[in-house]
Amino acid sequence: MKKVRKAVIPAAGMGTRFLPATKAMAKEMMPVVDTPSIQFVVEEAIKSGIEEILIVTGKGKNAIEDHFDANFELEANLRGKGKDSLLKIAESTTVPSIHYVRQAYPKGLGDAILQAAPFVGNEPFVVLLGDDIMPSPKPLTKQLMDIYESHGKGIVATIRIPKESSNRFGVIDLDEKLADNLYSINHFVEKPAPEEAPSNLGIIGRYLLTPEIFEILKNQNPDDGNEVQLTDALETLNQISPLIAYEHTGKRYDVGDKYGMLIANIEFGLEHKDTSEKMKTYMSDLAKKLKDE
Ligand code: G1P
Repeated sequence: MKKVRKAVIPAAGMGTRFLPATKAMAKEMMPVVDTPSIQFVVEEAIKSGIEEILIVTGKGKNAIEDHFDANFELEANLRGKGKDSLLKIAESTTVPSIHYVRQAYPKGLGDAILQAAPFVGNEPFVVLLGDDIMPSPKPLTKQLMDIYESHGKGIVATIRIPKESSNRFGVIDLDEKLADNLYSINHFVEKPAPEEAPSNLGIIGRYLLTPEIFEILKNQNPDDGNEVQLTDALETLNQISPLIAYEHTGKRYDVGDKYGMLIANIEFGLEHKDTSEKMKTYMSDLAKKLKDE
């Protein structure tokens, strides 16, 4: 079995859910407290032992490349002023092992993943979607890599979702329980209406895939919105080469959504050393005020 060494991070979406903020700015650069959301997934990949990362970008996404590159002027300035701790922060996001490719047209997640075919070659690989942040002592990506080592199959990470949210997720039609939190899969359904959802297990943005996915994506027709859906390709792949669903029971922040982004900022702000104390006081005062209203 080949070792999982490569990660693909799609970051070409237009981020329309955050307009007007994303009119001139990559949504992946929107911060949770002081950290661009994409940095969380890059760090998760690195902590999981991934050696090479490909970010699939598009128009208006140059800030992502700049963020993970050295900033000589800023570093010289901070060094000159003796601001060592800030210098350390600036240097810490320089990641030379990231490669980039552009998706020319916004043709969906499946098409974005297809752009990674030459980078991935004939190896298993992981996909991390930047909209999902899952803080965990053992990174979720690493958990998927360990399951792959023991089961040798592609894996999708899932969580239990409220039925009424099914139209925001790829939903799994479960086959049988294989072990704790592991299931075989009958079908994948992309964003079903709640009454048509086959289960309450929704896909979250971590996948471990085998390279057969590329041939499938290449031949797959776009949906009615002219997008090539990754979930539809997984449905085909599952028939040839069965995948496993892993149920993640830890935290998930959906930073691709306004409400989820606000929650992430509050909760991370309550933990961050620069804001924790003030935030706690503010939050408890606010809670009292809201209760009295
Ligand atoms: C994508 C996938 C969907 C998955 C979701 C997880 O949707 O198409 O199957 O459940 O990511 O975040 P998006 O949120 O990009 O619309």
